[in-house]
Parts: sequence; C-alpha cells; structure tokens
Amino acid sequence: MPAYAIIGGQWGDEGKGKVIDYLARRADCVVRYAGGNNAGHTVVNERGKFQLHLVPSGICWPGVSGVIGNGVVVDPGVLLGELDGLNARGIDTSLLYVSERAHVIMPYHILQDNLEEKARGSGAIGTTGRGVGPAYMDKAGRVGIQVGDLLDLEGVMPRLERTLAFKNSLFTKIYGGKALAMDDVLAKCREWAERLGPYIHPTEQIVEDLLAKGGRVILEGAQGTLLDLDHGSYPYVTSSSPSIGGACTGLGLNPQAIVEVVGVYKAYSTRVGGGPMPSEIHGPQADELRIKAQEFGTTTGRPRRIGWFDGVAGRYSRQINGFTGMVLTRLDILDGLPSVKICVGYQAGGREVERFPASASLLARCKPVYEEMPGWDRPTASATKLSQLPAEAAAYVRRIEELVGCQVRIISTGPSRDESILLEPIIP
Ligand code: IMP
Repeated sequence: MPAYAIIGGQWGDEGKGKVIDYLARRADCVVRYAGGNNAGHTVVNERGKFQLHLVPSGICWPGVSGVIGNGVVVDPGVLLGELDGLNARGIDTSLLYVSERAHVIMPYHILQDNLEEKARGSGAIGTTGRGVGPAYMDKAGRVGIQVGDLLDLEGVMPRLERTLAFKNSLFTKIYGGKALAMDDVLAKCREWAERLGPYIHPTEQIVEDLLAKGGRVILEGAQGTLLDLDHGSYPYVTSSSPSIGGACTGLGLNPQAIVEVVGVYKAYSTRVGGGPMPSEIHGPQADELRIKAQEFGTTTGRPRRIGWFDGVAGRYSRQINGFTGMVLTRLDILDGLPSVKICVGYQAGGREVERFPASASLLARCKPVYEEMPGWDRPTASATKLSQLPAEAAAYVRRIEELVGCQVRIISTGPSRDESILLEPIIP
C-alpha cells in the first residue's frame, strides 16, 4: 500500500506541480492534504499550461483520481470555477473527491484576512488574501464550517449565526469595515452545496480502500516546509502544515503507508510575502533572474524574492521531513552565470548559528556564509541525461546533495513533463 509524499523543501513555489504531474503517470491517485487556494501549481503538457490552486496536479492524466483531504481549506467558489475551466478544456474531473471534513473558506474569512493584513501595517505577513489563515483559525477555534455541513445547513445554523455575529462585530467595531448579511452568506452556501454535493465524500476511506488494493497514491504538498506553521519562520508562515506530519493528519492516513518522502527544491531560493530570507539577492542580479525565471506568484502575481540556494534551511527541512530523496528543479535558470553561490552557514553577531533558528528576529539577523562555485556556459535547459550536464552544473548538484544530506533522484531542466533527468525512480 504505497503512498509517496512530494513536499516543498523551501518557501513554496519549488515546482511541485510539474514534479507531481510527471510522477502521476505511474500513480492511481493524487491527494492534497493542506493549504487552500493560496497554492498555485503549474502543469505544462501537450494540452497547454494549467494553473491549479485546489485541484490536485494529477488531474490531467486520464484515470488518475484526485482527493482534496480534510486538512485542506476549500473556497467552493474557487474550486467550482477551477473545475469549470478544466472541463472547458476537455479534462475529466469526475474522479475528484472532496473530504466532508475539509473546512470551508467562507466570505467572511476573505474579508478578515484582508482587514487583518492591513491592520498589521509594516509587520504584514504578505498573505495571499484568500482567507486561508482565518479559516484555519476558526477550525482550531471550533467554529469552522466543514464542507459536509454545506449539505446540512440547518444543522450548523446556530454555529453559523454566532460566528457571523462575532465576525460582523470584529469588522465594524474593530476594523471600521462593513458587516456581511446572513442572507448573502446562506445564498452562497446553498449554491455551493448544490454544485459541490456530488464531489463530497469520506475521503479517508477512499484513500484507505485504494491503498488496500495496492493503488499508488501521491501526497501532494502545497507551500513549503519553511512556511510550516510549526516548523517555518514563524510568524511569517502559512496556517497549515505543509511538511510530512500534515500529510497524515490532513488525510487521516496511516503513516506506515508512506514509502517515500521526497523533497522538492529549486536550484536557488524564492520567497513571496514578508519574513526573513538570509540568502536573498537584491538589485539587478535578482531582477534578471526573476524575469528569466518568470518568478511571479501563480496566485497573486506578486514578484517573488530571489536568493541563492540556502543549504542551512535545506538541511533543516530534510531533517523535519525525513526526506528519502530530493528533486532539484529549475537548474536551467542558472545557465550562463559566471559563478553561482551557495549559502553553507549563517552568522549572527560574529558567531556561527548552527541551526535554522526558531526566532524570525534571529533569522533576520543571520548573515549568509557563501561558497562560490564556477558557473556553466553550456545550457542544461531541456537536458534529459546526466551526461548532458556541464561538469560545473553536475558539481553544483552534488554540492547541494551534500549540504542537504540526501540524494537527488530527479533534476528538472524545463517546464514540460519530459524536460527531466531521471537518476533514480521514485515510483517504480
Ligand atoms: P497565507 O497562506 O495566504 O496566509 O500567506 C502566508 C504566507 O505564506 C505569505 O508569505 C504567503 O506569500 C505565503 N504563501 C502561501 N501560499 C504560498 C504558496 O503556495 N507559495 C509560496 N508562498 C505562499
């Protein structure tokens, strides 16, 4: 009963969408376990480019089912829009299952997210503004609305009424904003229930049954380990657990089913939103890389911050997840640079900082210790064999392997499925 977890090793946007789509040809099901439509996964195939926010990235392969697990927060309007868009392009979505236990992002969560961000002023987290944080706050506060509740609105009415009254006080009395009308919220819920109803299931059972039959299940990470609520650069994090622990709680999955935990890392670093990033590059070199790599958020379009590969952070995420291997993406973006830097340590106040710190203020004070390696002229773009890589690029990959402490299994050299160098298969 094999499950394969594919998890972001950095601050998200590592190229997991492509990797999962590439692996999904050998899978029966792809499952999302955390986050919401703050995620943006890009898949490029013979039908074009697909930008997915909630639907699992295996959807383009016929016969591969998709599950949105209980750990995900679902904006039903966004999900239905995404399904319509996929159907219009001839993609079959009938094998998509949404957990009855997943929580709904309600209209008041989106409003709250944006009002709270504004109130944070210069301390803003830079959230995606999709209501993700407030939906998880309500889940933990035991006032959330589960997807299954949409089918029994009468049953949750007292909770919904209390919650909306509380939110409206918050919006009007604290933030000086406008109240939401219960009738509007209910109308939306009814509309969602009608269209989403056929997709709602006890997904832990669907996954369990599939695994019991020997089916191969990919656990699709969203965001990255350094944005993990528990293990990331708190408070500049998302509100869920993108790392491996989140996969078990976010699906109701027996951990013994997981046979591989693979970390996806980009050959350099990016970060969207606020928070410290020790190996950040500023100025024209960052701008050039951003443009070349089109590093703009899939969800918000915001320019991503660019940095050198951070070996300290990379090693830490390997440890948190117990990665059994890694996928290195976007090596081609570094083609043509005279030299490449790797962050191999941190220093603060003249002293070495041995671990990725828990404190965001210490992380902000960390100065990177760099190793500089020769760059390469010959392109790695579209390479499909290790022997096609220039020796300098191969040495760079080996150094990343050493620093992170696990083996590179696939190198991605371009956005399409087949622009990949397979070193050791992940799904047999
Ligand atoms: P939230 O998840 O919208 O609450 O945003 C919290 C932080 O996580 C912000 O810095 C976001 O930019 C970041 N974030 C959330 N989702 C993603 C993602 O899919 N990729 C990269 N950063 C993300």
